[in-house]
Amino acid sequence: MRELDDWLEDPEPRRFPFAAVLGEFQRVGKHFVDEELLKTLAVARDRLPGGDSAGVPAAAEPADADAAGVLERFLDTALDKFDGRYDYPTYTALSLLAPPRADARTVRVHRDRTVVRLLGDLVRFELAAAEGRTALFPELRPDPVLVGKRHRLAVRVAAPALRRLGLADPGGPAPSTDPAQAARRLWETVDASMSGPERLVLALSMLPVHTTHDEYLFIRVLQAFEATFTLLAAELRGAITALDGGDRARAVGRVTRAAGALTESAPLFSLLATMQVEAFQTFREYTDGASAIQSRAYKLVESLCRTPDADRLHSHAYRSVPEVRAGVLAGRRTLDEAYADARGDAHPALGAAMEEFASALRRWRQTHYRLAVRMLGTRPGTGATEGTPYLGEVRKIPVFDALHPTANASASAA
Ligand code: HEM
Repeated sequence: MRELDDWLEDPEPRRFPFAAVLGEFQRVGKHFVDEELLKTLAVARDRLPGGDSAGVPAAAEPADADAAGVLERFLDTALDKFDGRYDYPTYTALSLLAPPRADARTVRVHRDRTVVRLLGDLVRFELAAAEGRTALFPELRPDPVLVGKRHRLAVRVAAPALRRLGLADPGGPAPSTDPAQAARRLWETVDASMSGPERLVLALSMLPVHTTHDEYLFIRVLQAFEATFTLLAAELRGAITALDGGDRARAVGRVTRAAGALTESAPLFSLLATMQVEAFQTFREYTDGASAIQSRAYKLVESLCRTPDADRLHSHAYRSVPEVRAGVLAGRRTLDEAYADARGDAHPALGAAMEEFASALRRWRQTHYRLAVRMLGTRPGTGATEGTPYLGEVRKIPVFDALHPTANASASAA
């Protein structure tokens, strides 16, 4: 509070006491932050250039832009419960992690960087906790076997992105077989690749609601999937444009990349499966109102593949993502339509690439469903659905109609 009061006398964004404020949020969990501190942070927000509002910053703006932008996004995340607008995007600090531009190349590199940073930071925290170097999030610490599994899986998911970024040396020493050592190397590599502001953004994007150890894992996995969905949406958009422009080879490349990115991310679910059920049950008491049913990127992917049926579009599934729903209502072009229009003339490999993507998405839905059953049992979801029965149904939604029109028509009717 003292540091914040001092800052308010000369509110220069670059001098904001990030470490002190973040430290306090992480010490108690966002749900339990003292009212006085929250009120003072709201005053701080009003002092920002263009302040005096509790609005969410535009997602298209660069995540790593200027200090004022970072501070604005941090406060957007930190004050969500205080403002009464807590939801999935603020829970997962998505405004801080958004790509700076929407073109596919930028989004691709940004996704790889984000994924390795998130996983690097996760193993950094796991190592620090296992070695007694941090007192943060002390409840329900996992046992060493579980921690070893986390290290192994995090290193495995990060490996392809590290290689693409040129951060792993394929000619260097063989990867360590000791999971803790491999995890340490992952963090050291990632840490050395970041600038100071990038390190700050990564640190600020971790605001758990509670002090349970495993919430750290949960948030980092959600964020890594979000970065991947954002990439899938960019690739699918690119495929539609390419196909409509007659560049079928390019369309195939885009869809193949999307399928590859989703398949490559699958072990994130194995990583999340190491979350202790008791830990999940503990912190989810304070996450009510934040559900990935509000994931714009996921629904954008779904609706870029195929126009959702009217009952889904008008249900809670799409009402939870109003901007995406508005795009569908405004006639968003889908890959399904572009493929059907180019049909007689479509590249033979395109159908195969779409099938590959569809099967990767079906596998994602199935694994997600199984994990939810294990973690949640028969409890309702935090997104106002009945929980796993909802997921059991939505996993059957066809990804594309154009590939198997007859099969999909009977599946939808069933
Ligand atoms: C402990 C692990 C998880 C559980 C128990 C779980 C549970 C659920 C439940 C019950 C729903 C239905 C909506 C609701 O009422 O909340 C849902 C939706 C969803 N979840 Fe998860 N989830 C888990 C992990 C994840 C992860 C890691 C992701 C990746 C981002 C994710 C993405 C989604 C998406 C995109 C939806 C919306 C699906 C749709 O509307 O078709 N979930 N989840």
